[in-house]
Parts: sequence; C-alpha cells; structure tokens
Amino acid sequence: MLEEALATVVLAFYLMLPAYVPNNAAVLAGGGPAIDGGRTWKGDRLLGDGKTWRGSAGGVLAGFVLALLLNQLAPLEVAGATLPEFPVLAAFGLAFGAILGDIGASFVKRRSGRERGKPMPPLDQLDFVVGAFAVTLPLSHGWFVEQFTLPVIAVVVVITPLLHVSTNFIAYQLDLKDEPY
Ligand code: CTP
Ligand code: MG
Repeated sequence: MLEEALATVVLAFYLMLPAYVPNNAAVLAGGGPAIDGGRTWKGDRLLGDGKTWRGSAGGVLAGFVLALLLNQLAPLEVAGATLPEFPVLAAFGLAFGAILGDIGASFVKRRSGRERGKPMPPLDQLDFVVGAFAVTLPLSHGWFVEQFTLPVIAVVVVITPLLHVSTNFIAYQLDLKDEPY
C-alpha cells in the first residue's frame, strides 16, 4: 500500500519533469522583447513584460531536451515505479503546453487587473499543469492515457503547488526572481 503510493508519487514527479523545468528555465532565459510587443487591451497589457520570446523558447527547449535525455535512462525501476520513455510528441507537448499554460495565466491575470508579478493562486501553481495536459493529450493520446492514470493525476495536482512554491522561494532567495511566488 505504502510502496504503491510511493511508486505513484515517483512516477508522477518523473512524468511531469519536462513540464516543470520550462518555468524555471524561462526565468533564466527570460529577457528581450515581450511576446505582446507592448500591446494593450482595454488599458491593460495583453500579457505583460514577464512573458518574453526568449524565456518561452528557452523554456520549451529545456523541457524538450530534458525529456530526450531522460529517455536514455528508460526503462528504469525507481522505488517500484517503471519510468517510461517520453515519445517525441509527448516530450514536446509537456514542455510547450507548460509554457502555453503559463502564458494563458498571464493573459487572465492582466484581464483581472493584476500587474506583472502579482500572485493569483492557485492559477500560478497549476496553469502549466493544465497547459501540459491539454497539449499532450491530443498530441500523444495513447501514451498520455496509459501513463496519466487518475491516481497519477491526483498526485500531480497535490505535489505541483508544493514544488512550485518551494522552487520559487529558492529562486527568490537566489535573486533570480523578484517575488517569492
Ligand atoms: N519568463 C519569460 N517568458 C515566459 C515565462 C517567464 O521571459 N514565457 C521570465 C520573465 O523574466 C518573468 C520570469 O521569467 O518575469 C518569471 O516568470 P513568471 O512568474 O511566470 O512571470 P511574472 O513576471 O511573475 O509575470 P506574470 O504576472 O505575468 O506571471
Ligand atoms: Mg510570477
């Protein structure tokens, strides 16, 4: 029972790595022109200066390359979980979807009058999960439904906000990020 739970947590974390890394890589790669080019809608920025072409491309690339590197390990047994390979379309879907979800959240945040960097929980913590799932589901359908069983999805929804809050706090302490969220 406990062993099975541990295996599910390990698998969930592993499957989401290509979707977790893009956000952190975007912080490091960010800068340069904003995606919205400064455009506004009804007085508010479309996305804001926190969503750049460079950060987005760097984020997607980092997640995608990580998945391909992880594939060199497969099939690997860790804590009772069999870590699978990421099909190329799933590798891309997880990374691209994560960045797309984060961009979508900024669009929503600007529409609700929140300036760049203002928090909006739990949107900030789960936007990239929703994006990663929504893009990977159609792109790599068979693989997605095989790997992301209901228990795995449940674990992802619980551990992702915890991981997000702690990694962002570390990035803030390291002066890589302006806010601790
Ligand atoms: N970043 C980027 N491009 C992205 C995502 C992030 O360049 N697609 C970089 C930006 O430098 C951004 C930082 O990573 O400031 C932190 O990302 P995030 O917290 O998502 O952006 P915020 O600045 O908080 O802006 P928002 O309120 O729109 O989330
Ligand atoms: Mg933010």
